[in-house]
Amino acid sequence: MPSVTIVGLQWGDEGKGKVLDAFAGEADVVVRFQGGGNAGHTVVVGDTKHVFHVVPTGILYPGVTCVIGNGCVVDVVALQEEVSALAERGIDLSRLKLSSRAHVVFPYHRELDEARESARSGASRIGTTKRGIGPCYADKASRVGIRVGDLRDPATFSARLRRVLDEKNAILTQLYRRRALEFTPIYERCLEAWEALRPFVVDTSELVNEALEAGRRVLFEGAQGIMLDVDHGTYPYVTSSHASSAGVSAGAGVPPAATGKVIGVSKAYTTRVGSGPFPTELEDEAGDRLREFGREFGATTGRPRRCGWLDLPQLRYAVRTTGADAIVLTKLDALAGFGALRVATAYAVDGERRRVHCPDDPPARIRPIYEELPGLPEGVDYAGAECFEDLPPEAREVVSFVERELGVPVAYVSTGPQRRALIRREPQLFA
Ligand code: IMP
Repeated sequence: MPSVTIVGLQWGDEGKGKVLDAFAGEADVVVRFQGGGNAGHTVVVGDTKHVFHVVPTGILYPGVTCVIGNGCVVDVVALQEEVSALAERGIDLSRLKLSSRAHVVFPYHRELDEARESARSGASRIGTTKRGIGPCYADKASRVGIRVGDLRDPATFSARLRRVLDEKNAILTQLYRRRALEFTPIYERCLEAWEALRPFVVDTSELVNEALEAGRRVLFEGAQGIMLDVDHGTYPYVTSSHASSAGVSAGAGVPPAATGKVIGVSKAYTTRVGSGPFPTELEDEAGDRLREFGREFGATTGRPRRCGWLDLPQLRYAVRTTGADAIVLTKLDALAGFGALRVATAYAVDGERRRVHCPDDPPARIRPIYEELPGLPEGVDYAGAECFEDLPPEAREVVSFVERELGVPVAYVSTGPQRRALIRREPQLFA
């Protein structure tokens, strides 16, 4: 089975959008398997910047079939808008396939997400994207969710929506003192979106399995990152889906072995949005500088990202848990101009030295142990480097250091937002 899975090795925003775009042209099928409108994959082609929320980035390549799998949660109204905007740019959407089993995000999910976040304060606030992701996955697990395929029959949809909305309105009005949501606008707008999306809706598990059996090249597109995985991330400061490579099988409806080669994406430093532990965070001028040079503002919410040094104990944990076979290192250029670089090579956890660790402990218990590397020169055209040898020696040393420490090849180095700004040390993506 010639398949490849791309996942984030940190807290999302590793530059997966650009990497996925650089690789998608080599695939026949690109599959999103988890998450929803909380994701924001930024792709720059020529002078045009595209931000994808649910539609896989492969849609920019003619001939690539793009699948939104059953593990995703889909705001059908937002998806209709995303699809219309792409169609207006002349992109052929007949290749888009939407799982009938994906769960629908409704306005009451967004309202509950917002109400819960507002009711929390300080460290108990998760800092969600307020796209209704957590409440929608909670309904899926509670077996009161409504799936895309359920919109097919208006009578059944109406009965289910009424039942669920009654319960949500009781919570919204009595617990959170908010206004009740009206049934009719939600019902009518969803059916309108269904009519627009109906041609895309299929059994995507069947489609992807048949593609794999036919030997077609399938690329599984992860959103967020392993540290936001509901099981393996820094719970409760996580999203509500399986952002690790383990999410592929359940979220696309394929056998576990179909995951294929796993490529993990990591920045040359660390960022996260929202609350939660971040052992190497820089809350000083260096952090501000990284945010400015790395343009670290969220693609979905515009929020400034928290920035810090590269964290190897966290990355070793991420490599181990995702089974990453190779790494794409992104945004090296944003480190240029720092006198010296710091990299956390271990943690002291309650005084005990740990080389591999999920930093989900209370921050006071973890102390990063740093090593210094020589800083990268400024005024270098990093994006113009055609091959690894074109990079300055200090940049090559960072890459080699990461490889040595993680025991995994850095097979690709991303040097800028453009599609072409990717140094390939392993030319063949699919086996
Ligand atoms: P939710 O997914 O909106 O529920 O947000 C839960 C946590 O995941 C918050 O800390 C968000 O900031 C974070 N998060 C969700 N999606 C992304 C993403 O695509 N990139 C980075 N962080 C994300």
